[in-house]
Amino acid sequence: MSLRATAVAHPNIALSKYWGKRAGAGNFPAVPSLSLTLAGLATTTTVEFFALQRGGGEDELVLNGERVQGEPLVRATALLDRVRAASGLDARARIDTTNDFPTASGLASSASGFAALALAATRAAGLDWDSARVSDLARRSSASAARSVFGGLVELEAGVLAPIESGVLAARPLVPPGSIDLRVVVCVTSEEAKAHGSTDAMRATAERSPYYAAWLGEGPCLHATLKTAALAGDWSAVAPLAERSALAMHGCAMAAGFSYFRDATLRAMEAVRALRASGGAKSVFFTIDAGPHVKAFVRAAEADRVASELARVPGVLRTIVGAPGPGAHLLDEPTDSRNGER
Ligand code: PMV
Repeated sequence: MSLRATAVAHPNIALSKYWGKRAGAGNFPAVPSLSLTLAGLATTTTVEFFALQRGGGEDELVLNGERVQGEPLVRATALLDRVRAASGLDARARIDTTNDFPTASGLASSASGFAALALAATRAAGLDWDSARVSDLARRSSASAARSVFGGLVELEAGVLAPIESGVLAARPLVPPGSIDLRVVVCVTSEEAKAHGSTDAMRATAERSPYYAAWLGEGPCLHATLKTAALAGDWSAVAPLAERSALAMHGCAMAAGFSYFRDATLRAMEAVRALRASGGAKSVFFTIDAGPHVKAFVRAAEADRVASELARVPGVLRTIVGAPGPGAHLLDEPTDSRNGER
C-alpha cells in the first residue's frame, strides 16, 4: 500500500467573518461564518508516511521548497497526530507543501494549507473519510480551513452545545461554485508575512477589546441575514453586511492593539467605495482578512474593469482575479462544479 497522497485546496474568503474562539479546548469558532472558496490561488500538499523512522522520528515539513521548523511544524504535527491516532499508523511523515501565492500574509494560506493537509494526510494514512470528517479535522488546526474543504459558498456554524460536546464541527457547503455570479479581485498590497498570527490576535481581542462583546452579540444575526441574501443571490443586499462584518472585525481587533491595515489597504477600500458611488461598478464591495490585502467582490461581468481600476491604486502591487472554486481534492481526482462533497 502506498502511504502517500497529494491534495490541492483553495483559499476561501469570508463574507461574514469568523473572529474569536469559544472558551475551552477544541478550536471552536465563537461566531458563525460564510465564505466563498476561490479558484485561481492554490495550495498543493503531498504527505508521505514512512513506516521506517527517518531523521530521528520527527515529522518533516517543506514549505515552498524550504524546510520549516517551529510553530508551523508543531501545528502540522498536531494534525498528523490525530490522523495517526485514528488510523493506528505509527509512522513519521514528510509534508511537502507549496502555495502559488504569498504565505501567511492574510491571503488565507492557513485555510487552504490545513484543508490540503487534512485531505492528503487522511488519504495517505488509508482513511477513507467523507468531506465532513476531513473538514472537522482541518477545523481543529484552523477554523477557516474547515470551509476550504468545500467549494462555492460554505458555512461554518459557531457550534451549538451538542456538536461541541461530541467534539465534532464541520463546515457545510451551501451553493456549488458553478452557480455563483461573483468574482473576487484580490488587491495584493504586500508580499510579506503578516505581523500578527490570527490565533494570538483573536485571543488578545477577546481579552482586551472593549468591543468584543458587541462583536459576539451582532455576529449571529448579521450572519443569518447575510446568508439569506447570499442564498437568494442578492449581492446588493450582501454588500453592506459583508463590509460591516469586515469593519467590525477589524475595529474590534484594532481596539485591542492589532491593526492589519496599511496605507494601500485604506486607499483600495476607498477606491472600491468610489467605483460603487460613481456607478463605475455598481456591484462591488470589499472585505479584508487578517492582513493588509483588500478583496473586492464583484459580479463576473464587472470583474475585469474593477481589477484594472484597483491595480492602479498606489500601493496595490498586483491584482489576482479569483472565480468561485472547488473544494479540496486529490491531485488525480477530477474537479467539476461540485462543491467538494464526497
Ligand atoms: O482560521 P484562522 O485562524 O486562520 O482565522 C482567520 C479568520 C479570518 O480569515 C480573519 C476571517 C475568516 O472568517 O476567514
